[in-house]
Amino acid sequence: RVAEGCGFVLFGVTGDLAHRLVVPALYNLAEAGLLPKDFCIVGVTRSDVPADKLREDLNTSLAKFIKRPVDPEIAKSVLACLSTVRADPSDPASFDVLKKHLGELETRGVANFIFYLAVPPSGFAPISQSLANAGLLKEQQGRWRRLVIEKPFGTDLASARALNQQLLALVDEHQIYRIDHYLGKETVQNILVLRFANGMFEPIWNRNHIDHVQITVSETLDVAHRSSFYDATGALRDMVPNHLFQLLSLVAMEPPARFDAHAVRSEKGEVLAAIQQVSHVEALENSVRGQYTTGKVSDRQVDDYRTTDGVAKNSATETYAALKLSIDNWRWAGVPFYLRTGKALRAKRTEVAIRFKRAPFSMFRDTAIDHFAQNDLVISIEPNEGVTLQFNTKVPGPEIAINGVEMKFRYEDYFKVAPSTGYETLLYDCMTGDNILFQRADGIEAGWAAVEPFIEAWKSAGQDGVQGYAAGSDGPAAADELLERDGRAWRRLT
Ligand code: BG6
Repeated sequence: RVAEGCGFVLFGVTGDLAHRLVVPALYNLAEAGLLPKDFCIVGVTRSDVPADKLREDLNTSLAKFIKRPVDPEIAKSVLACLSTVRADPSDPASFDVLKKHLGELETRGVANFIFYLAVPPSGFAPISQSLANAGLLKEQQGRWRRLVIEKPFGTDLASARALNQQLLALVDEHQIYRIDHYLGKETVQNILVLRFANGMFEPIWNRNHIDHVQITVSETLDVAHRSSFYDATGALRDMVPNHLFQLLSLVAMEPPARFDAHAVRSEKGEVLAAIQQVSHVEALENSVRGQYTTGKVSDRQVDDYRTTDGVAKNSATETYAALKLSIDNWRWAGVPFYLRTGKALRAKRTEVAIRFKRAPFSMFRDTAIDHFAQNDLVISIEPNEGVTLQFNTKVPGPEIAINGVEMKFRYEDYFKVAPSTGYETLLYDCMTGDNILFQRADGIEAGWAAVEPFIEAWKSAGQDGVQGYAAGSDGPAAADELLERDGRAWRRLT
């Protein structure tokens, strides 16, 4: 696979996402020698910003967001070709200026374009429409045009469907790259390899051997810096139909017949569509909503969520969500999937834990047990990317005694890789035309359909049922009860 030369047209180039993730990822690609030779960035802004000023700002951001010394020559090579254009969907003439600019680049040999919409969601449809009106999305004579759409893709099933329809009226599905940055993470991609490139896991990867699955994305961050967006969104919408469901679908999907975008995305969509649709009553029984109150996360004092600027004083928005889901298919019948995610929690931890059924223990009934390992296969994404297997061993000595131990694989130890933003892989794939790691319309809609009953049930319940939890804790007690009632417990966040 070779990245083809292209113009990278970045809408929202002055914004946080471009500075924090997108442009640093382009730098990392350049450093790894993966950026195509004929490559240039076109920064699109809504007001006039001189290219020199933008170059300077982006340079500062590279130094800030790349966690190692930045090579000035590489930074220069990435930013040297940067040009800026003002374009605003409410001003059609401005898209003519963009068209003219891209036309000039074409005459200089830039044949292909990526349009990257690093803008708030309200901009996705209007910008795409304006690009299409200007004829900029039409592919001809082997010259490709790709549209990268950031998250959130819709706010519920109806809006996601509407956005899909709007986009698909303008471009073909193969031109749309719906980003979920979790798919750029090594460990997330490794779930596919772990499951399907090893002979030992797949035979036991089913309801006969697996007791349940836990998916955790716990964050220490609070929402202070983006409170009004967050208060209108909440933990469920912000994290579950996208990030947590990416993890769930890779863990739970059937083996695809081929390693290509069509086969993989079809299987992922199928398993999401098999998540049991629950009634409102069941949705309330099988979920927990939490909201953080005053507390300390490590040494940082965090104020009560409802006192945050930009948050409604009587807000019912959840900053923590836990769900119990069932997957209605042959492989997973009777295996609960427990999901939890929240802000201002004790630890930053992202992991999928597959808990296997207990061995029949009768033989060791009278044996001393120091610590019992639950036979968890833990796919860890934060704080360290890797895989851990827990199992029981005999304690050395003449007596039989049992102790739980861990076998650990860490990417960093083994491959000595520099931490990446996750965006590198995704941008590279976009330049090579591989959309296996991007979401397809049906997958997005299946994700929203699965959370819809919870969104609806929580909306009608209003503030009833929102559980407080102290910032810096492990979340609301009700989340523990959700598992306790099934005779299970969350893994402890270390
Ligand atoms: C974003 C959410 O998509 O993902 C944020 O909007 C969240 O609220 C972030 O903090 C988590 O990403 P990561 O890579 O830090 O787990």
